[in-house]
Amino acid sequence: MEYSISISVQTERQVKDTKSIPFGLQPTEHMFIAEYRDGQWQDSRIMPFTNLSMSPLALCLHYGQTVFEGMKAFMMEDGSVNIFRPDKHYDRFTKSLDRMCMPHVPKDLFMEALHQLVQLDASWVPSESDGSLYIRPFMIATEDRIGVKISDEYLFMIVCTPAYQYYSKPLKVKVEDKYVRAAEGGTGFAKCGGNYGASFYPTKLAKEQGYDQVLWTDSKNHEFIEESGTMNVMFVIDGTLLTPPLSGTILDGITRDSLLTIAQEKGIKTEVRPIRHKEIIDALASGKRVEAFGAGTAAVIAPIEVIAVGGKEYTCYLGEDALMYQLANDLLAIRKGHQPDNHNWNYIV
Ligand code: COI
Repeated sequence: MEYSISISVQTERQVKDTKSIPFGLQPTEHMFIAEYRDGQWQDSRIMPFTNLSMSPLALCLHYGQTVFEGMKAFMMEDGSVNIFRPDKHYDRFTKSLDRMCMPHVPKDLFMEALHQLVQLDASWVPSESDGSLYIRPFMIATEDRIGVKISDEYLFMIVCTPAYQYYSKPLKVKVEDKYVRAAEGGTGFAKCGGNYGASFYPTKLAKEQGYDQVLWTDSKNHEFIEESGTMNVMFVIDGTLLTPPLSGTILDGITRDSLLTIAQEKGIKTEVRPIRHKEIIDALASGKRVEAFGAGTAAVIAPIEVIAVGGKEYTCYLGEDALMYQLANDLLAIRKGHQPDNHNWNYIV
């Protein structure tokens, strides 16, 4: 089914130099919005970016029925713009919506909205190799009723912001041995707002101790590594790329999946299996070369310099020849059109 999206255009661009603005502060000129009422999506429109107006009773403000995605568009070598793996983002969005009892957005509507919005704001896609357009589709429950219930009304929106390097330096992370991000049967795999809100307090404590992020561990024994901060986590030991398996508690990262695929195609050994933090620490303590990094849409790869456990710090390898940089470069080369896109990851707008 084709969805009709009305478009009202803002003609004046307010900001030209976006590189100096920190991540997420500068929206592009337009946003997409659709309203779910009476069991269907209605009034789909692209309009100048503006504030929302809603009742203080809106259910999203009280009970956390919110889901979001984070995806990116890139300026390619030939000047065209591509959105990276929108299908996989759509699938993850849908899984998150199911977990939070929220209605699906039909795929045609999702894709058409993305396409039209990114096309309209294409001049905001940075051309620099460290730049991209970060795209944030999200849904919130808007029924205005204070009772605890699944909302009958929603907004689905897409906003965009130019993005450059997310972290300016390698990270110091602390193995978390008290708090948990997610437990089995919970919402860890879903990209819902509550997961992020719940991570703030342990992350604040880690920052007070001099760390940038938490290395999350399993909820039962704090023995197995899960994610780091808001990213999947990966390691390279003895030339093998290691990452924990997707379980109900870990986000199915699109960057994680892309890096694993690229590594396998390069003939690099990959292991997706439970990883005890003791295994990583033992390797570091024995003087082995260990690469550690976060992988996520916003950060792409975020090198980890220090891993701390029980107050003791261990240093990871950050040399220029590290595999993580090669994988990140290969990913960028596909996104920019310098290397063939064998998996049809690039959706050309
Ligand atoms: C992303 O990487 O897209 C996220 O949602 C994480 C957030 C830190 C921006």
